[in-house]
Amino acid sequence: MTRTILILPGDGIGPEIVAEAAKVLECLRQEQGLDVTLEYGRLGGSAVDELGAPYPEPTRQQAQRADAILLGAVGGPKWDALERPLRPESGLLAMRGELGLFANLRPVQHYPSLSAASALKPELVAGLDLLIVRELNGDVYFGQPRGIRTLANGEREGFNTMAYRESEVERIAHVAFKAARQRHRKLCSVDKANALETSELWREVVTRVAQDYPDVALSHLYVDNAAMQLIRAPKQFDVIVTGNLFGDILSDCAAMLTGSIGLLPSASLAANGKGLYEPIHGSAPDLAGQGVANPLAAILSAALLLRHTLNTPDQAERIERAVGRVLDKGLRTMDIMAPGMIPVGTQAMGDAVAAALED
Ligand code: IPM
Ligand code: MG
Repeated sequence: MTRTILILPGDGIGPEIVAEAAKVLECLRQEQGLDVTLEYGRLGGSAVDELGAPYPEPTRQQAQRADAILLGAVGGPKWDALERPLRPESGLLAMRGELGLFANLRPVQHYPSLSAASALKPELVAGLDLLIVRELNGDVYFGQPRGIRTLANGEREGFNTMAYRESEVERIAHVAFKAARQRHRKLCSVDKANALETSELWREVVTRVAQDYPDVALSHLYVDNAAMQLIRAPKQFDVIVTGNLFGDILSDCAAMLTGSIGLLPSASLAANGKGLYEPIHGSAPDLAGQGVANPLAAILSAALLLRHTLNTPDQAERIERAVGRVLDKGLRTMDIMAPGMIPVGTQAMGDAVAAALED
């Protein structure tokens, strides 16, 4: 059965990096018989410009129909002054919410040939392989009430609501425990239970769910300590499970362990198996249009798509091996450049990965 992949290039560097991921998928379609059709749509600022909304109706329908979605990135200074519902990021959050994409998987893997690119000493990151499981449909991102109000004294106040229901914590905890079972059976739940009731309940629920997984070692860390531990000794972690806001912050932090945020893919999964796949980085407006952005996070997101929605792990691994080979050959985009390496732009990097697929 032919599967439909909806490609949403988005804004900034989004179209450039997604074109390379699409190139790799197209290559697998032609040479390996991957049974997919690629369809294109608009999300974010480009959708605002062309269709008047960041998650317009035609995109909504495409997204409902598609088996999987591959997204570049959204946002940029051009749209920052718009009212919040019209901002590109609101379109992305609406899509994550409406499609029920609650489980965000952010694997953080260290490539041996990139030791020099990490912000940490090589021995701290060599062999690093961790998975951040970030809850994506709750927390301050979606909690009500929210807004900016004017107080009696005329001063304005911004407010958001941090909230998690037991069922929301349970379902993400199950995803994380199951993921840990496929790995090294260690799960660290990150919260701020020393200060926040939301976290107090989070910890209680995760501890309860742990009874179903006696073979997985569960630990808990407060988020401030977790941030420190990620920098101090990141290899102590196997799987980290955390809420939407803490996960957003910790995953950017973890990205720098690998050398560049331009390397980290993500999968956002719904209970029905639908998935949205996107790099964890933003639209990098300052780099847009120059052909210098790193397409590897987008390409590796396509690999996650093959693994999690299309259930073709062999093809996913084929892409991941190709990325490793290209890095071993010394090809480097600007963000991971090191002395003696071969500088390449976005397209050349994509071409190299596509060429390394059949090796
Ligand atoms: C991410 C991004 C988004 C988020 C933004 C663009 C709304 O930072 O996917 O990590 O905060 O979730
Ligand atoms: Mg982020």
